[in-house]
Amino acid sequence: MSTRFRFTLGATDGRARTGTIHTPRGTIRTPAFMPVGTAATVKAMLPESVRATGADILLGNTYHLMLRPGAERIARLGGLHRFMNWDRPILTDSGGFQVMSLAALRKLTEDGVTFSSHIDGSKHMLSPETSMEIQRLLGSDIVMCFDECPALPATPDDVAKSMRLSMRWAQRSRDAFGDRPGHALFGIMQGGVTPELRQESASALTAIGFDGYAIGGLAVGEGQEAMFGVLDYAPGFLPADKPRYLMGVGKPDDIVGAVQRGIDMMDCVLPSRSGRTGQAWTRRGQVNVKNARHADDPRPLDEDCTCPACTGYSRAYLHHVFRAGEMISGMLLTWHNLHYFQELMAGLRGAITEGRLDDFVADFHASRAGGDI
Ligand code: GUN
Ligand code: ZN
Repeated sequence: MSTRFRFTLGATDGRARTGTIHTPRGTIRTPAFMPVGTAATVKAMLPESVRATGADILLGNTYHLMLRPGAERIARLGGLHRFMNWDRPILTDSGGFQVMSLAALRKLTEDGVTFSSHIDGSKHMLSPETSMEIQRLLGSDIVMCFDECPALPATPDDVAKSMRLSMRWAQRSRDAFGDRPGHALFGIMQGGVTPELRQESASALTAIGFDGYAIGGLAVGEGQEAMFGVLDYAPGFLPADKPRYLMGVGKPDDIVGAVQRGIDMMDCVLPSRSGRTGQAWTRRGQVNVKNARHADDPRPLDEDCTCPACTGYSRAYLHHVFRAGEMISGMLLTWHNLHYFQELMAGLRGAITEGRLDDFVADFHASRAGGDI
């Protein structure tokens, strides 16, 4: 058995590629979608159910877990995999991005960031060194560098300064991570929507050398056109033989466009979060189950879907349990959404393998209706 972390490329179709990430905890088929398990759970789902949707890897969050229940406690209890009963790979984000969006009283310095917890106001500090230590205590398989993502709107000068800070933090993350066989460290490219800054960031990261490379600082309100604009060139700045991870993306059409542009991994709260607010994603478009027109509808959410929500329940039932605030509503819709996202990834992988990605993408867009279906 190989205990090394390794990425092998499979087929390519245009700039899109398939591949396999080998880890001691199992393989990850790419392009991969990672469900988000922020607080040591993919909300409303048992881990075996998440696996049944086709997920090979979950995402966890340094920021949330350090605050509650604490990284040392998780380590004492056998690590995050044992704690949450998921024995496959886990990628953890490094915390800086979440500090900036969630914590109060943030103070950023060269050393790192001090902040107050959004849970109880307690004071904490994160730096490249403490983030690497927390992710080690969690037992993360894929550790992310500690970075900063500038809040928009930001001037090109702000973006450049922030990116250069993140690159110094990337070197410190690399030094603090050390040599941990079987565990991977990914760098995070920043630089906003400026090609020269993206190139500078990519050069800095590749000079340090990482097991994979993320593209950060996108899906932060710039819009799909601007994001695709960056994805038209940024993946090409990164080594072809390492996984490329687009952080925080996205909607199904974002995922398809990102895969066409050479992205191998993505994560997003969308399928799980929208499942809890009554939104379903299907191959034919979005369904809002709270809409009154579903109240008498005996049909499933999606006739072609094989998930438990679609094989066992009507739109009328899903409408009822959502309206009644029943927990099964979030459970069924989250399962359906995760199943749909994983089926989309499997479809993309199959199409790339068979060299018919353009046709797959044309069908994907043609079968979708705008608005509620
Ligand atoms: N999640 C979404 N975008 C980012 C980013 O730029 N950096 C990190 N660390 N996480 C993210
Ligand atoms: Zn379904």
